[in-house]
Amino acid sequence: MGRKKITVIGAGNVGASVAAYASAQELGDVVLVDILDGIPQGKGLDLFETTPVLGVDTSVVGTNDYKISQDSDVIIITAGIARKPGMSRDDLLATNVKIVGEVAEKAAFYSPGAIMIVVSNPLDAMVYTAWKKSQFEPRHIIGMAGVLDTARLRSFISEEIGVSVEDIHALVLGGHGDTMVPLTRYCFVGGIPVTNFISSERLEEIVQRTRQGGAEIVGLLKTGSAYYAPSASAVQMARSVLLDKKRLMPVAAYLDGEFSERGIFVGVPAILGSAGVEKVVEVDLTPQEMAAFGNSVAAVRELVKEVDRFL
Ligand code: NAI
Ligand code: 2OP
Repeated sequence: MGRKKITVIGAGNVGASVAAYASAQELGDVVLVDILDGIPQGKGLDLFETTPVLGVDTSVVGTNDYKISQDSDVIIITAGIARKPGMSRDDLLATNVKIVGEVAEKAAFYSPGAIMIVVSNPLDAMVYTAWKKSQFEPRHIIGMAGVLDTARLRSFISEEIGVSVEDIHALVLGGHGDTMVPLTRYCFVGGIPVTNFISSERLEEIVQRTRQGGAEIVGLLKTGSAYYAPSASAVQMARSVLLDKKRLMPVAAYLDGEFSERGIFVGVPAILGSAGVEKVVEVDLTPQEMAAFGNSVAAVRELVKEVDRFL
């Protein structure tokens, strides 16, 4: 059996960093696709020239040609634009539906057996778009948001209480946005509830910072949004798929009755393996948590309605 193959669509900040992490972790050969002329080729070559220094055997190739992506095991979609001043949410949605729809369709044509991981925003609506246009089985399409949102929560908690990030586990449900539902009841430090270490008032402040984690980075960078943590998160998901690790993580997965929802992609805990989303794991929710989740699902359904208008 040869090496695994990973295609990354969009060679911007997130896409190039995904290619860098995937190659550094020797997950497989990487193909970086973009519409820009020279950017994917240049970044791909630069990353390939990094491999002797890291001591990893992977090829990295940048291209504008989807044919090179043929027979990929995993496709990671990061193409799209960020919202610019003066642009309405409808404008952004319409533009990214077109971009993500087109790239998902092309990539799926050359790699019908792949598992697709979507990163482009607005995340939950773009996962739905990629599903519609690729016509993949819904469990073969996964959205990246929860791994990033929980990574933010975990890093802030670690810093607050002085315990290794490795020992902090957290869970976030719902859409990737203001309505996300961080479940502090399911947040543990070395198996001990986080409330053992931190007051609920302080925890609420940290949760609020997590909710605005994307905006905090945009406020600092000014010219773009976060990409190191987002790309590392997408690669962690790809790793679980490629190595069939069956890691349990929060991802935007297709719901078919789980959490009493159907026909929608939204953030839930799921087991990721070579078959994509192998199981959505349901958890008990308090009436308050259930209401927050319902509110988040409703917001995602509104976006999906708009996607259907543009598809
Ligand atoms: P970027 O602007 O640096 O890169 C986007 C790339 O997509 C550009 O290189 C552009 O040429 C390319 N592109 C545009 N149209 C294309 C097409 N039709 N075919 C192929 N490539 C195309 O943006 P960045 O920072 O890499 O972010 C990418 C996306 O990921 C954005 O939508 C952003 O909002 C989203 N994002 C989502 C996160 C999440 O948690 N789900 C976290 C971070 C970013
Ligand atoms: C983030 O959360 C922009 O969605 C992106 O950083």
